[in-house]
Parts: sequence; C-alpha cells; structure tokens
Amino acid sequence: MSSTVVTGIGELVTCDGTGPELLGIHSNAALVVEDGMIAWIGAAAATPAADSRIDVGGRVIIPGFVDSHTHLVFAGDRSTEFAARMTGQPYDGGGIGVTVAATRAASDDELTRLLASRIDELRALGTTTVEIKSGYGLTVADEVRALHIAHQFTTETTFLGAHVIPAEYVQDRAGYVDLVTGTMLQAVAPYARWIDVFCEPHSPHAFDADEARRVLTAGAEAGLGLRVHANQLGLGPGVQLAVELSAASVDHCTYLDNADVDALAAASATTVVTMLPGVEFCTRSPYPNAARLFAAGVSLALATDCNPGTCYSSSMPWVISLAVRELGLTPAQALLSATAGSAKSLRRPDIGRLVPGNRAELTVLDAPSYLHLAYRPGVPIARVLDDDGFTRQRTNARP
Ligand code: NIG
Ligand code: FE
Repeated sequence: MSSTVVTGIGELVTCDGTGPELLGIHSNAALVVEDGMIAWIGAAAATPAADSRIDVGGRVIIPGFVDSHTHLVFAGDRSTEFAARMTGQPYDGGGIGVTVAATRAASDDELTRLLASRIDELRALGTTTVEIKSGYGLTVADEVRALHIAHQFTTETTFLGAHVIPAEYVQDRAGYVDLVTGTMLQAVAPYARWIDVFCEPHSPHAFDADEARRVLTAGAEAGLGLRVHANQLGLGPGVQLAVELSAASVDHCTYLDNADVDALAAASATTVVTMLPGVEFCTRSPYPNAARLFAAGVSLALATDCNPGTCYSSSMPWVISLAVRELGLTPAQALLSATAGSAKSLRRPDIGRLVPGNRAELTVLDAPSYLHLAYRPGVPIARVLDDDGFTRQRTNARP
C-alpha cells in the first residue's frame, strides 16, 4: 500500500453536497491518497504522515471533471460544415454520414491513435472520467470495432448504433432497427455499459419515438443502462420516453415544455438532464434555461458532447463558463453539474465528489478560487493532478 499526502491546497472544493452552495469547501486543507483512493481529508495542521507528498502551492483542488457525453471515436473533418453553420446553415444531423464514411475507411491503428490523442487533450483540461459513444460505424463490425477501441480507454462505453439510419438502409428503416436491436446489440454488448439513441423527429436521419423505444427496450433487456439524445432540434417525445424507461441520462434538452420539466423534476432521483451548451454554441442554437430546471428540482449534469459535427471541443472548463454565461447557472451549480452531477448521470457514486472512500481523481486549478473556471474563459487553468509538474517528495522512505 502506498500513500501520498497532497498539501498546500488553498481551496479544496469537494462537491460533497455540504455547506454553502453544497460545494463542501475547505480552506488550508490536506488530503491523503492511499492506493488511488481518498483515505483522509482534513486541516493542513493535522496532516498525517504518508510515503510521499505533493505540494500544490496554494492552488485549488476540485474533483476531476466527469465528461459524461462524448463521441470521440471518429476519423475525418467537418470544419467546412461548421463554417457553413456560422453563416446560417441549420444543423439536421445530415453531416453524421460524412463522419461514418471517414470512420469506416480508417484503420484500427488510426482510430486508436486519434482517440488516444483526444483523451490526452481532455486530461490536459482537467477531465478524469470520460464516457465514449460509438455511432460512426453503423455496421456490426464497425460498431464492435469502435466500442472495442473505446473500451481500452474507459469503462463508460455507450452503444449508439441508433445514431442515424445509414445510407444503405434509408429504404428499410425497420430493417436497420432490427439489426441494431438484434445482431448488432448482441455483438457489441461485451464492450458496452450503456445504450443510447438519437430520438429526434425533427431530423430525417434520426429515430422516432417508436423506434427509440424499441432500441432502448432491447438494450435494457441485454443488460445495458439507458441514455437518450432528446429534444435537441425541437420539442419531441424523447424526454418523456427517457423518464418512462428510467434512463440514467437524457441529453441536450435544448427545447423543453412545462410537461417535460415536470416529468424531469419528478424523476430527479433516477434521470439526470445532461446539458451540452457547447452544442448550442457551435450550432448557433438557442440556449436552454438551466436555471429554471435547477429551480424545479431537476438533476443536472454538464458535458462536452465532443464530436466532429455539433461541438468539436473537449474542454469542460469552457462548458462551465458557457453554463454560467448562457444557461443561467451559478459558478457553484455549474461545477457541481460537471462533477457530481455528471457522475450521477453515469451512476458512479465513487467519482465526482472528494470524500473518503471515493477514487482520488483530482484536478488542480492554477487559481485562488474555483470561481476562476467561469471568470477566466478559454484560459487553461485546469489540469489533472498527477506527478507531472509537481514535485513529489519521499517523506517516509521504506526499506
Ligand atoms: O450529440 N445529435 C446527434 N449526435 C451528435 C452529433 C453528431 C454529429 O453531428 O456528428 C450530437 O450532437
Ligand atoms: Fe451527442
């Protein structure tokens, strides 16, 4: 067993649900890590002995960000589609087919290398847990390949065979849903923890309520947890379906009516709304009102949705600054949503909150206060705390 004490923490934000704004803030705190788990949190003056010490020099420590919604296994580039959107072209999901073609054409090595570099990128921005969806393969072999590669980097893998109807099935939608809920689901199940569906009647490429229900029900029967892309392009049935089927997360929710908000508030113990404000930014869509959801008692998470179409950013700090500026959350609500809230959406009580017994996934902010996450948009103040860049000293060397 090896132990490390982290000292010199100017502000420790545990996100444990206690104290002002539920942030569980400690000043002049120290924290002991044993074998990757948090063993002790307390006042610096009472720091116990440990094998080694990391001094963070008065910086802020927060839980590592939990990015609970990404599509990181892809090849190709859609920057021209982005540029067209910035001059008024609407998003309808049609560009997904471009990425499907590029991803199918890429080698296993290339896809693995691309994913590894995206993981490096998000860790450099403070994210310690990432959920990764498939959905740019859309054949049995290509979906298995995407999830097999993703599974090498995270346990939070999501089967999104029901992303769009692929070109070869446009005349046979029912046949594609049969494939997704049958052979494809059986083949990917060993590599997937979750199943997701793009339930969006406003896109001709995505799935309607009946199709989405078939996909989610089959996934649940195969033992997968449920996540839903819903109400991204307009009002629709996805939110009510997610609540009815006890999905862990319903994502986007750009458009919600009063009945949706009521249903989400009533389901707050089970179903989390994952807001993705980077998507509204990158598609020039209206921002949803997260403050209204918070006030209604809805459980909230924040994630990037990092993907080549609607948001090619892996920056959780940027998402937090957007949530504060555009969704109406306070900095505290945004940070809680990006850590404990996203962990709840993955049903992972062991992450997202710094409490003894949880995983010691720590992010350090080069700042005097967590407020700087929203206050310094675009400035890279957050990074995962590991040995790099900090001096680890042996304090109690063993023979
Ligand atoms: O979450 N809406 C569906 N899927 C992605 C976009 C995928 C793409 O455009 O490549 C999303 O926004
Ligand atoms: Fe998405």
